[in-house]
Amino acid sequence: MSKLKGLAAGALALAALSTASAAEAETRVGLLLPYAGVYAALGEEIDAGFQLALEEAGMTDEFAIVREDTEVKPPVGLAKARKLVLEDEVDVIVGLVSSGVLGAVRDFVDGAQVPLIVANAGNDDATGSRCSKYITRVSFSNGQVNRPMGQWMYDQGIRKVYTLAPDYAAGRQMVGAFAEAFRQAGGEIVGEDFTPFRKTQDFGPYLTKAKAAGPDAIFVFYAGGEAISFVKQYDSFGIKADIPLYGSGFLTSPLYVNAEGPAAEGVVTALHYVPTIDTPENRAFVEAFRARTDRAPSEYAVQGYDAGRALIEAVKSGADSREALASALAKVTYTGPRGPVKIDPATNNIVQNIYVYETIKGDGGLTQKIVGTVEAVADAPNGCKL
Ligand code: PHB
Repeated sequence: MSKLKGLAAGALALAALSTASAAEAETRVGLLLPYAGVYAALGEEIDAGFQLALEEAGMTDEFAIVREDTEVKPPVGLAKARKLVLEDEVDVIVGLVSSGVLGAVRDFVDGAQVPLIVANAGNDDATGSRCSKYITRVSFSNGQVNRPMGQWMYDQGIRKVYTLAPDYAAGRQMVGAFAEAFRQAGGEIVGEDFTPFRKTQDFGPYLTKAKAAGPDAIFVFYAGGEAISFVKQYDSFGIKADIPLYGSGFLTSPLYVNAEGPAAEGVVTALHYVPTIDTPENRAFVEAFRARTDRAPSEYAVQGYDAGRALIEAVKSGADSREALASALAKVTYTGPRGPVKIDPATNNIVQNIYVYETIKGDGGLTQKIVGTVEAVADAPNGCKL
């Protein structure tokens, strides 16, 4: 804590800010991400977005970053969170990609009273029944991203859907939220399957079963390496020609959609960010990210970037303890690359637009055509009391 206190003192002593007090003014950040395993590319992308935010603000020297790899494994993530807090004495943890890892670290950060800025993991419980004033999520919740697709697909005339997802918290919550909304709209779920997470390489048997159920469409959640394999196999097994594929937008993330290739063309999904959002804020962000990485930013990049921006705003507001930092994070609001965003005081989850988009062929590879926007989507508190 002393480090954050030092920061406030240093900020107050503005005029006399010497090199020594500047060094004292450091906020220690634990960047807890997967740098190996099925979500490694996602972790790297969040890291790149986070660094861009600090660079743009000219504040890289004010943050000392310690990186740890979760390997997408809950027990490893928990051990690394403990290490960051107990050994490295970080003031704040930023990151987490997997809902399983978030579920595993939730009680530890809440008990240790360390602010956590969630930069991906959508686990509904972390801003629902297991919410905490120390947890602020700037990414999305699993329900938030998928619920709008229930009504949207029904409105397109789709009546029977089969769902598939990896068998862990995120997979169950993402297709669960979609299925509930689709049924409420009047649709029918004609079957579902959950594939072993991090272990499934051959989706053939699952696709055969899905096709046999005779749905109008298939709705899935897959991300990272699993998304690439799934979309390619969906095409190569010949199902694409008969049954259209829908899903949560991570399936065709701009981060890896070009690795999926033509198999991804025509797939319709929903997400809180696509690089084709046509606003001045997003155009500036796309340009800055491209200048740094030579590629368009994905949702993971914007999540890392917004985690950095939220942290900067909170620190600039003069937060002088972990508790003050956590409260300041929960009040962050601005219009960024994905549109207007604010943190919901009832849950500490971000409130944001959800964009339905089709993956289409563009000039320099595949691109995202926005076909629908649902504005300011928020979750019900689901038992959260802050
Ligand atoms: C999650 O586990 O919450 C998760 C992982 C990857 C994604 C989205 C959500 O792309």
